[in-house]
Amino acid sequence: MSSSFRSRRTLPIEEDGEDAPRADLLPGHQRSDRRSASSTNLDQHVVLGSHSPGHVVVDLRPTAANVDGGGKLELDPVGRMPVHFVLAFHDLTYNVGRPRRMAFWRRSRHVETDATTARGGGARAREGALLLDGVSGEAREGEIMAVLGASGAGKTTLIDALADRIQRDSLRGAVTLNGEPLGGRMLKVISAYVMQDDLLYPMLTVAETLMYSAEFRLPRSLSASKKATRVQELIDQLGLRAAANTIIGDEGRRGVSGGERRRVSIGIDIIHDPIILFLDEPTSGLDSTSAFMVVKVLQGIAKSGSVVIMSIHQPSYRIIGLIDRLMFLSRGRTVYYGPPASLPLFFSEFGHPIPDGQNPVEFALDHVRQLEAIPEGTDELVEFSKAWREKALARAVSSAACTGRHDKPSLPLKEAIRMSIARGKLVSGATTSTGDNGTAAAAASTAKVATYANPWWAEVWVLARRAFTNTRRTPELFLIRLATVVVTAFILATVFWRLDNTPKGVNERFGFFAIAVSTMFYTSADALPVFLVERYIYLRETAHNAYRRSSYTVSNAIVAFPPLVALSLAFTAITFFAVGLAGGAGGFLFFALIVLASFWAGSGFVTFLSGVVPHVIIGYTVVVAGLAYFLLLSGFFITRDRIPSYWIWLHYLSLIKYPYEAVMQNEFGAEAGRCFMRGVQMFDGTPMARLPVETKVRVLEAMSRSMGLELNSGSCITTGPDILARQAVTELGKWSCLWVTVAWGFLFRALFYLTLVLGSRNRRR
Ligand SMILES: Nc1ncnc2c1ncn2[C@@H]1O[C@H](COP(=O)(O)OP(=O)(O)OP(=O)(O)O)[C@@H](O)[C@H]1O
Ligand SMILES: [Mg+2]
Repeated sequence: MSSSFRSRRTLPIEEDGEDAPRADLLPGHQRSDRRSASSTNLDQHVVLGSHSPGHVVVDLRPTAANVDGGGKLELDPVGRMPVHFVLAFHDLTYNVGRPRRMAFWRRSRHVETDATTARGGGARAREGALLLDGVSGEAREGEIMAVLGASGAGKTTLIDALADRIQRDSLRGAVTLNGEPLGGRMLKVISAYVMQDDLLYPMLTVAETLMYSAEFRLPRSLSASKKATRVQELIDQLGLRAAANTIIGDEGRRGVSGGERRRVSIGIDIIHDPIILFLDEPTSGLDSTSAFMVVKVLQGIAKSGSVVIMSIHQPSYRIIGLIDRLMFLSRGRTVYYGPPASLPLFFSEFGHPIPDGQNPVEFALDHVRQLEAIPEGTDELVEFSKAWREKALARAVSSAACTGRHDKPSLPLKEAIRMSIARGKLVSGATTSTGDNGTAAAAASTAKVATYANPWWAEVWVLARRAFTNTRRTPELFLIRLATVVVTAFILATVFWRLDNTPKGVNERFGFFAIAVSTMFYTSADALPVFLVERYIYLRETAHNAYRRSSYTVSNAIVAFPPLVALSLAFTAITFFAVGLAGGAGGFLFFALIVLASFWAGSGFVTFLSGVVPHVIIGYTVVVAGLAYFLLLSGFFITRDRIPSYWIWLHYLSLIKYPYEAVMQNEFGAEAGRCFMRGVQMFDGTPMARLPVETKVRVLEAMSRSMGLELNSGSCITTGPDILARQAVTELGKWSCLWVTVAWGFLFRALFYLTLVLGSRNRRR
């Protein structure tokens, strides 16, 4: 793998001071550098829009990938011509907003006509909005393809379509790589998608953020020092050296600048040097220098052998100079497709020459906007663009026929990917059996593309470390929770101070247990925002297989656990002796364990909800309502034997039932000789309670005689087991209750995992 670093070129960002309009982009001018030669060539042979399986791909240009600085062909390490990746899309049509009842019809029809990714392109607008309408084109290794257009033109939609982020049955048309339909799994492994929003952990530094990304995306076979080298290289490449140790920050905490954050977002997705890179507006919100730096970095990535496809709003001159192909969209249709340098020619042939000195892209944007405002819209321009491309295609085919040079992507896709990995692409999950010292040729023959870069346990370890770092840097979250538990425990300890063994004391114990156990669950609600906040980061990371969903679930549980131990000990220490609970050291330990189990089950329940509910407010509402029902049917307000049979299922589902019964048994089953009602105490709570004690003793003796019992004022009327029987706490032992509570915690985490599997499809419908 060491060759990977050697072969990969780091492209320092050059500030070339090109603020003035570029002459080579203006009408009537030719570029003089090597790139202009290729662009001029592109003018003539261009850009074959409708590349589909079986079609000849004609491109006679020397590409950045196969010509080195001296102009001679550069062979890959195994002595073959470098591979070419061509991502082609044909007649992409995407329609949304169809009535639900049509969905079945649409799906069954789709299966009949077309079961694979080659989605018959015949469908046109039927109903709903047509977001893409017959868009075709291709993007090549070594080039940047930019998708342009006004806001709402369909740029993001097109990139989503190419990146397989739209449900297969909603999208029509074909997307192929080297002529082969792109499977979702393969695409995930070899591509990356940089979203428009910066979804980053605010408390990590730039270097840490990139390092964690390296740990997720780069294969385990790469040593830690190599990963660190890669991160350093990327930091330099992205111009982030000065900000490397600054935290990302957010609204509340000052961190790196917006432009730096944007570059970090790009960095985490390109750390593994993806073969195909999709970027949605990588330059939005950046000043022109930062935007140029970002695109310059992208050019470097393209030249290292990647296909780069990005959407962009209003590129500056300098940026236009870095773009190889433009896909200009207006309301989902192509109004121009070709190199930026051909824009002037295109518009002059269309009858609207671009005035001298004007930025051709700005002119095109303005012109399209004007056309969109008139009733005929851009129909004429769309038709002209189609004819223009067909003409270019015909020219290219005849030119290819004359010279006899047909440059097809030379290798089958899998082979091309293997070659690419062997040449040094650090594709996520790529493993070579040759290790650091093996030759690239051997690597090429053995390189496998795995779905995930790392084994499961390594992902859990990295995720847990990252989460601990985040937790350590936001101690206030834990401290607030600890304070809540301590204050609640203190209030309970003082309110239920030293309960006695009278019938009243027994009732107060019931109250204490019910409120204590429900507190465990209510204070768990703070786990709710954790995933709701992290959800988008999680979606971004798992969209390209940074780690498994199961690793996330497990690390989430591991990180959640230690604070629960601290909370449980704090609560037990404050309340157990103050309230005067039974059982001594054993009782204390069990009480602490059941409190911990309750926190565990509660946090599991809340974590599961966070995977289901879309919003934190809804989450809290469900938590509060759910726990109220659980408490209602836990056996405290109404005992099990009195619950209507049609609600008994909820009693058994009640999370509060099990810890409540466990603490009841810990208290009332702990000491055999303990008595909770003696002699005349049996008259408490009855009209006889007001009688003088001597009278009550006489009544007791009379009752005792008539019933043939030997009751006196010292006799024990109610023992602990009697109380448990009266409260119908008889089904499970205290340890069983503890295990059931623990099992609930695991069950909810398993359900959380299921919500992740089912709920994060990452695709538009
Ligand atoms: N589910 C939907 N139903 C109807 N219209 C939709 C839906 N999703 C997106 N659109 C519309 O599709 C059009 C294209 O959206 P898209 O996000 O691709 O635009 P864009 O070119 O990326 O714009 P921007 O530059 O503002 O990001 C927009 O007009 C948008 O309102
Ligand atoms: Mg967009």
